[in-house]
Amino acid sequence: MYVCICHGVTDTQIESAIDNGAETMKELTKTLSVGSQCGKCCQCTKRVLNRKLLQIAEAQPQVA
Ligand code: FES
Repeated sequence: MYVCICHGVTDTQIESAIDNGAETMKELTKTLSVGSQCGKCCQCTKRVLNRKLLQIAEAQPQVA
């Protein structure tokens, strides 16, 4: 699904950038240019970011 129309960025590309170390909106903007033009995709990008970071955190082993 396209998240950023201005730069043609999909949710899969965003998730891939997060897998490669991006952890913030600023880093995603630097890597993919997402949100750097009209800004209408920022909320959707943040939802994708938060969902992916939560998935990564839940996959980590629990430390007691
Ligand atoms: S839709 Fe992403 S900057 Fe415009």
